[in-house]
Amino acid sequence: MRRVILDVDTGHDDAMAILLAAAHPSLKLEAITVVAGNQVLEKTLANTVNICSLARIDVPIYAGMAQPLVRDQVISPAIHGDSGLGSAVFPAPLREPEDEHAVDFIIRACLAEPGELTLIPVAPLTNLAMAFLKEPRLKDCVREVILMGGAYGLGNYTPAAEFNIFADPEAAKIVFESGVPLTMIGLDLTHQAMVPPEVREEIRSIQSPVAQLVVELLEDYGEAYRQVMGFPAPPIHDVCAVAYAIDQTLIETKPMHVAVETTRGLCFGRTVCDFYGITGKAPNANVAVSLDQARFWPLFVNALRSY
Ligand code: RIB
Ligand code: CA
Repeated sequence: MRRVILDVDTGHDDAMAILLAAAHPSLKLEAITVVAGNQVLEKTLANTVNICSLARIDVPIYAGMAQPLVRDQVISPAIHGDSGLGSAVFPAPLREPEDEHAVDFIIRACLAEPGELTLIPVAPLTNLAMAFLKEPRLKDCVREVILMGGAYGLGNYTPAAEFNIFADPEAAKIVFESGVPLTMIGLDLTHQAMVPPEVREEIRSIQSPVAQLVVELLEDYGEAYRQVMGFPAPPIHDVCAVAYAIDQTLIETKPMHVAVETTRGLCFGRTVCDFYGITGKAPNANVAVSLDQARFWPLFVNALRSY
């Protein structure tokens, strides 16, 4: 049983990551922390509360940072819409967010039980970076960070940079340089997780409000990806990070040194991954390379069947 804290900027794929993390028996979802990213914090927080309410996921939710550390805020309405979750409609909230700030919660929870908690940020790394800055001992108390972000290949928000890193490059630099045990699930991996039509039809056949919500989210998210990126199907990025936390054999990784470009220019926010070990710098991350799709899709669909 791996105990995890999910850090989200709930948008479509964050919502699906929450559903997988809460449903799989080999994970204990201890809490969800929220940050600005796909949309402003007010909306990513409301979306997170709404998803947990609909799916009756009763875990504490903590609001975090509303702005990046240094840069101007960027959001992703082209993909996630004005609400951050398209046009989905939700029931009354099951619970309200906690009073404690997400950064303070992450520090308190990890220092209380050193080595016990895995942090799974699938959003800009502002909450984690603030926690590392506020409490330098944190890096020695976290079991592992499994993050969705970055790419050794092409970016998706700029040609060079992936959104979660581009939205707060200074925060990402702090996390990658912290020395914490780190796995990077980047676009090179998550673009292998574009939802096949037969998987979407299998989800559609599940008669439950949660599964039908996922169908609705995939239609909305799929159309956005078709228009913006010309993709035939939407990649469920954030679900891949949770899947790796469940079963590391699902994803092949390669140790690499990863540096984050924080100078402004064409490559601002790029994860510069030393794939061939050219720099001689010691690896600071395990970087995801290939996905076992044959086992990944049943893992996701079976989790949806459990609601
Ligand atoms: O680039 C993909 C990432 O950006 C995902 O986490 C998605 O939810 C957005 O936050
Ligand atoms: Ca996300």
